[in-house]
Amino acid sequence: MRNFDFHNPTRLVFGQDTIPKIGQYIKEYGEKKVLLLYGKGSIFKNGVYDTVVKSLQEAGLTVVEAGGVKPNPVLSKVREVVALMKAEQVEAIVAVGGGSVLDTAKISAASFYYDGDPWDFYERKVFPKKALPIYGILTISATGSEMNSGGVITNEEEKKKWGWGSPFTYPRLSIIDPSVQSSLPVNQTVNGAVDTLSHVFEAYFGGTKGTLMQDELSEGIIRTTMTSVKTLLSEPSNYEARANLAWAATLALNGINGLGRAGDWASHGIEHSVSAYYDIAHGEGLAIVFPAWMTYVHHVDPEKFARFGEKVFGIVDGTTEEKALKAIGAYKAFLQEIGAPVALSERGIGQEHLDDMAENAVLRGPLGTLMKLNAQDVREILTLAL
Ligand code: NZQ
Ligand code: ZN
Repeated sequence: MRNFDFHNPTRLVFGQDTIPKIGQYIKEYGEKKVLLLYGKGSIFKNGVYDTVVKSLQEAGLTVVEAGGVKPNPVLSKVREVVALMKAEQVEAIVAVGGGSVLDTAKISAASFYYDGDPWDFYERKVFPKKALPIYGILTISATGSEMNSGGVITNEEEKKKWGWGSPFTYPRLSIIDPSVQSSLPVNQTVNGAVDTLSHVFEAYFGGTKGTLMQDELSEGIIRTTMTSVKTLLSEPSNYEARANLAWAATLALNGINGLGRAGDWASHGIEHSVSAYYDIAHGEGLAIVFPAWMTYVHHVDPEKFARFGEKVFGIVDGTTEEKALKAIGAYKAFLQEIGAPVALSERGIGQEHLDDMAENAVLRGPLGTLMKLNAQDVREILTLAL
């Protein structure tokens, strides 16, 4: 196990009927004027908008609104939000939605104190010294953004979908009421589960040895995620399944799962490149890329893939290599069972941009820790995913 130094400052409020408390929480922290940031409108249909606004008004807060954050959020929207925040001199952001809204909030919160372009943070030309406080109201469990410091934004002009984070961009407080996720379309619930599993995999398959505690934790998150999403396919309003999936998603990327291990993150890098070109949902891209990545790299650490097969799918027969391959097959079959795509062709993607996407994926250097991947490797993985 590697050494680690862990600090996660986000206060997490979890459970049913917790959203109406948001106004009171903010009042206690002392802000009086907030930006209410949200997506393309799901919060109007499921009542979350009304609940949040009522709570903010009852707490006497002044509310400035910015809606319209799209999935795979874009830099142009960030610029628009930052301009509004500066003009209105808000004191905090209330981000209501999923990873896209939270990620937009994070870069906007840091940019509030910066006169240059928000993309400078992504290009690492500057580092923030502070950021506005962020309050998250999570409506889809997937990214862990409610309890981590990361934010992924697409620079649409340059086709760069990049991640960034800072010690100042953890939400101060996030509320997760899993019951509001009952309104999710089935495919979005599935996308969230796939993203959760993928976050666990990035650390689990990163190549670090001697991490039994972390491996057992990861396998618990994986099994819980798989069981819960299957229940939700037939019972979308099953609260216990929603709650367990939500907590699994947070645990998968709030830092705890990754401790003591290298994070591989090659599959995420490849997926980000795919969605920079094709704007497909992050979870869909991961369902397509991960089995191909596993197939390409499993020879580096077949024991770990065999262990995955045994602990998650009960695969005990065969040589280590056979068990590893069966495990990858079983994961692909699971993805198909829950209705996730497992090939680029299922989303209408062919050979056209394979080279572009491969080059784009390694713009910031080779990917991966289990196996270092250059553009040619990425191209071969994408070819396996066709
Ligand atoms: O925009 P609205 O109308 O709100 O609809 C959203 C959106 O269409 C909808 N939705 C959310 N809650 C709902 C709902 N529909 C009905 N009922 C509800 N309760 O779901 C759709 C997807 O929302 P989005 O926020 O895009 O999903 P997600 O949370 O999966 O976020 C994906 C983004 O986060 C990035 C991804 O790359 C992608 O850009 N990631 C962020 C990470 C992080 N910050 O740590 C890590 C991840 O690996 C990931 O890269
Ligand atoms: Zn992800």
